[in-house]
Amino acid sequence: MKISVLGIGYLGYVHAAYLAAIGHEVIGIDTDAARISFLHRGELPFQEAGLAQLQLQAGKRLQFSTDYRDAATAQAHFICVGTPQLPNGAGMDLKQLQECVDALLPHLTGRHVIFGKSTVPPGTTASLYRRMQKQLCSGESAVADIHLAWNPEFLSEGNAVFDSRYPQRLVIGALAGEAGDIARACAREIYAAQIAAGVPVVETNWESAELIKLSANAFLATKLSFMQGVAQLAEGTGADIAAITTALGLDSRIGQQYLHAGIGFGGGCLPKDLQAFIDLAQQANAPEVANLGRSVADLNSGRLKAVIGQALAANAGSLKGVQVAILGAAFKPGTNDCRESPGLLLAAELQLLGAEVRIWDPLLKDLPQLITELPHALNGAQLAITATAHDELLQANPHELMEFPAKPVLIDANRCLDTAKWVAAGWRLL
Ligand SMILES: NC(=O)c1ccc[n+]([C@@H]2O[C@H](COP(=O)([O-])OP(=O)(O)OC[C@H]3O[C@@H](n4cnc5c(N)ncnc54)[C@H](O)[C@@H]3O)[C@@H](O)[C@H]2O)c1
Repeated sequence: MKISVLGIGYLGYVHAAYLAAIGHEVIGIDTDAARISFLHRGELPFQEAGLAQLQLQAGKRLQFSTDYRDAATAQAHFICVGTPQLPNGAGMDLKQLQECVDALLPHLTGRHVIFGKSTVPPGTTASLYRRMQKQLCSGESAVADIHLAWNPEFLSEGNAVFDSRYPQRLVIGALAGEAGDIARACAREIYAAQIAAGVPVVETNWESAELIKLSANAFLATKLSFMQGVAQLAEGTGADIAAITTALGLDSRIGQQYLHAGIGFGGGCLPKDLQAFIDLAQQANAPEVANLGRSVADLNSGRLKAVIGQALAANAGSLKGVQVAILGAAFKPGTNDCRESPGLLLAAELQLLGAEVRIWDPLLKDLPQLITELPHALNGAQLAITATAHDELLQANPHELMEFPAKPVLIDANRCLDTAKWVAAGWRLL
């Protein structure tokens, strides 16, 4: 099928490449001209396992443009633009979505199915639909038969290519009855291979599709923050959070994923989606639900505060001039995305307190202010703090690294190291 993907960021690029890899003709549209010329050169926009191979499989079926006219010949369109948090923190900014449909519609004639993939609060699809109807009726757009559905994406950065190929479910939110049949049939055609392979399909209405995604992310954030809470209780009782995590994860009702009480969650999705969940709860006059969301957010930010407290306590209450190495800038391993990264947030806070901070990250080679070699980052450091559980860190030899810091003092903020090994090598763990 000829398909356009609108917004070629983390989600849009992977989705576009996946669709092309399975045989569709895909045009990726983005308003960021620099990004499109970068992609025209055949370069990969970010680090993800398997992305180069996916791009190879997509081949010439995957094209890019900044011009919405190039989307006109596609039969189906996927909206993958950003839905960031509004600067004042009150809800999601849906401007990119509105600009996207406003730019697309004037070029469409005949039948088209538009799928929203971005994460949005319930009611967004209905309001976009009204916006589109208004535009179609006003004569601003050519006569077109438009069908709108929401098909949220659940891929997880670091595992994005695998998640695109093998999703755990497909969610299609469309109008009930005949009004939604064309969109549902179109989705089933696009995803025919996955459906034939047994991927379950949940067909529902727009609002459910929207809330499924928002609550999935709010739940994952809750699971992570719950474990921060358990880690606090463990510290007070002498219990071992690693053993607790392993044992809880072995319970199939709980599961192992998103159970790690690390440095806290970040990235371009969980923090903003949790905030949208809280906003929704407030609007729905559900204060207990809003409070639940706020506790999740507080537990998350509390972890960084606790780490800063540890760093201060170890330096007689002042970090002025203390050489600190932050180990990891990506918000999680396997990606070079550092949006809302706990490591960078921590670095900024420590700098404000007067620390001399250097940041190590092996995947962020394009940022000259970051250091990609671990020994170089530790050189002369008086305190090292783990932030991202990159493989390079987990596999590092603490004996060999001992010679570099001025003081081998470590806070395993991400709780990701085999601390016994580091202590045996001579590191002092706070
Ligand atoms: N990143 C993820 O892992 C992930 C996973 C699932 C869902 N999502 C959701 O997908 C959406 C996009 O997230 P992302 O991480 O890819 O964001 P992103 O910022 O990486 O990408 C958004 C892209 O849209 C482009 N854009 C902005 N306005 C445009 C317009 N009018 N027309 C065309 N392009 C335009 C931007 O230039 C950018 O390249 C968000 O709603 C997010 O919550 C993201």
